[in-house]
Amino acid sequence: MHLCHFAPLLQGGPHVLVSLVAALTGLALQRDLGGDFYQVLGMFANVPPFLCPPRFRYYQNVCTQSYSYVWWDWARWEREIDWMALSGINLALAFTGQEAIWQRVYLSLGLNQSEIDEYFTGPAFLAWNRMGNLHKWAGPLPHAWNLKQLYLQYRILERMRSLGMIPVLPAFAGHVPQGILRVFPRVNVTRLGSWGNFDCSYSCSYLLDPQDPMFQVIGTLFLKELIKEFGTDHIYSADTFNEMRPLSSDPAYLSGVSAAVFISMTGADPRALWLMQGWLFHHQPDFWQPAQVRALLQGVPLGRMIVLDLAAESAPVYLWTESFYGQPFIWCMLHNFGGNHGLFGAVESVNHGPSDARHFPNSTMVGTGLTPEGIEQNDVMYELMNELGWRWEPLDLPLWIANYAERRYGAKNARAIGAWQLLLHSVYNCSGPCVNHNHSPLVHRPSLRMNTELWYNKSDVYEAWHLLVGAAEELGASPLFRYDLVDVTRQAMQQLVGDYYLEIKQAFQSHSLPDLLTAGGVLVYDLLPELDSLLSSDSHFLLGRWLEEAQAMATSDKEAELYDLNARNQLTLWGPTGNILDYANKEFGGLVLDYYGVRWSLFVSALVESLNTGTPFHQDQFNQAVFQVERGFIYNGKRYSSKPVGDTLEIVRKIFLKYYPGCMQRIRMGAA
Ligand SMILES: *[C@@H]1O[C@H](CO)[C@@H](O)[C@H](O)[C@H]1NC(C)=O
Ligand SMILES: *[C@@H]1O[C@H](CO)[C@@H](O)[C@H](O)[C@H]1NC(C)=O
Ligand SMILES: *[C@@H]1O[C@H](CO)[C@@H](O)[C@H](O)[C@H]1NC(C)=O
Ligand SMILES: *[C@@H]1O[C@H](CO)[C@@H](O)[C@H](O)[C@H]1NC(C)=O
Ligand SMILES: *[C@@H]1O[C@H](CO)[C@@H](O)[C@H](O)[C@H]1NC(C)=O
Repeated sequence: MHLCHFAPLLQGGPHVLVSLVAALTGLALQRDLGGDFYQVLGMFANVPPFLCPPRFRYYQNVCTQSYSYVWWDWARWEREIDWMALSGINLALAFTGQEAIWQRVYLSLGLNQSEIDEYFTGPAFLAWNRMGNLHKWAGPLPHAWNLKQLYLQYRILERMRSLGMIPVLPAFAGHVPQGILRVFPRVNVTRLGSWGNFDCSYSCSYLLDPQDPMFQVIGTLFLKELIKEFGTDHIYSADTFNEMRPLSSDPAYLSGVSAAVFISMTGADPRALWLMQGWLFHHQPDFWQPAQVRALLQGVPLGRMIVLDLAAESAPVYLWTESFYGQPFIWCMLHNFGGNHGLFGAVESVNHGPSDARHFPNSTMVGTGLTPEGIEQNDVMYELMNELGWRWEPLDLPLWIANYAERRYGAKNARAIGAWQLLLHSVYNCSGPCVNHNHSPLVHRPSLRMNTELWYNKSDVYEAWHLLVGAAEELGASPLFRYDLVDVTRQAMQQLVGDYYLEIKQAFQSHSLPDLLTAGGVLVYDLLPELDSLLSSDSHFLLGRWLEEAQAMATSDKEAELYDLNARNQLTLWGPTGNILDYANKEFGGLVLDYYGVRWSLFVSALVESLNTGTPFHQDQFNQAVFQVERGFIYNGKRYSSKPVGDTLEIVRKIFLKYYPGCMQRIRMGAA
């Protein structure tokens, strides 16, 4: 009996009990994937389409490990794995604890501990160390960290396997610590370019030449050690050129690299299958011309690689690569860079993308996937994508969203449904060049050249807010409702920040000090503090929780200090000097006041000062001053509550009365 016969049963996804799904998925998974992967494609050839969902439902981005999971304990992992099972995920990364194995491998090769410490980054940046983008930054990685992660990985693997999922393990991609050069002076390595505005003290990693015999020695040694520790399900992930320009565009070189990676996998596991992110092709399209893409993909036997079309909802690569030149691929929704808060999504392309890809001539699509860099935002997009993993054709979005609102709150409420229909139609209906980031001025370093353009009609969000405030009386007891109420209020306030910013700018440019003081005063002394208190009332939006989870991983004061720096730096400067400034911005209670708020306050003061003294505003000078504020936040030593404070419903009502655009009189609170 095959899982696909149960597909109609499972269309509801989240309703179904974990155990039921687990039993079904367990039954269905063809664990023995060795040999020609086209078996997997062929498996469905004669099954009526409506009976059978695509083979894989994949989950995770290599970056999710750092942006979201970095501080997780087992309890949090357990919940996530349950959610994965409920959603029918059957293929997911299991990257935890790999540094513990690498540490062992490097020591056995003859590197010493200081050479290893110069290599690994701190915990919150490991994703980019693993892809060869970064070394050393925010490290060294404590011994206790590795032990704890090793222990977590045991539990993660045991649970994923028991629920019938295929965990994807890491493999060697070719990057090595500098210490390799001391131990093996004749090894042929080349240095890649710098990455993400980091200089070569933290980037420019060393890449082993694929033809160098050490490539196979190291790659196979690592994988053997990993398999000895954890066992294997035969699918491995490695990214050699993620956002990194290869040394040569010669197709022979590129297929040599992918062949070397693959052979080092089969050296340890003859049935190995390589799962690779296809992001590189989209990221550097000038380099990755058809000949280069084909060479890299075809360096591996057809069917022994699965490519993740990583952001297929906005930049599908299969379209211009003849479906990855015959290698199987998974259609993935990336949706979010850096785990930003902010409501956005591209529902139409998510809804139509998978079936379009399946109907593409000679399509090699073998599944759908979720590849957000960070989670815990915009649940609706992930529920939608999960639902589509079980369908062959697009669904009726307005109907689906109405059912979603009812399922989510456990009650049918016309206002809540109306709110969701407005959100679907506005923030979630991004088309054309879509957002994957929160671009609001709120969460970026102030300047006079900020973009406030939106892809939707702001009134729709204010109206959805109004409707949710009206639904609070009936639905206020639902924690999911309260979360959404905070989130939509947050979005409305973020829009207001954009409006106040424009007023500030206009007042400054027309030399009107009173207007500048008014708009700046409201923003800095009322709107942002109110937003901070709103966020502080919900446990999902707390800086204190993020920091406390980091602290909880520490086994000494020194570690606690290091993890605190990691946790704060990732959200803000992202690097020593603001290298990837605000990329992973979050609207957290605590962060809004002490980081974004202080920054806006400085900006308004600088503009006031400029008008007062008749001297021009210099962005460069402001940037230098504001950098001290940003850095100051990281080292402020302040503790933030990890428990919510205040009554969300009351706070929302107060903010609504003050800030809901249009006539306040029209709205009678509670009875609205
Ligand atoms: C590791 O080797 C380097 C290079 O020989 C040396 O400078 C360093 O002191 C050594 N570190 C340890 C901990 O032995
Ligand atoms: C070293 O590696 C580079 C690039 O991988 C290659 O072009 C070069 O020929 C290699 N040198 C030797 C001596 O093998
Ligand atoms: C699909 O594959 C067949 C057989 O290899 C080939 O003849 C045909 O041209 C392909 N179609 C397209 C649109 O690539
Ligand atoms: C999204 O916008 C397009 C027009 O840009 C429209 O055709 C489509 O119906 C909208 N979808 C939803 C769900 O509102
Ligand atoms: C936005 O929506 C409001 C309320 O429905 C409407 O009055 C307004 O004309 C819309 N604005 C645009 C630019 O479509």
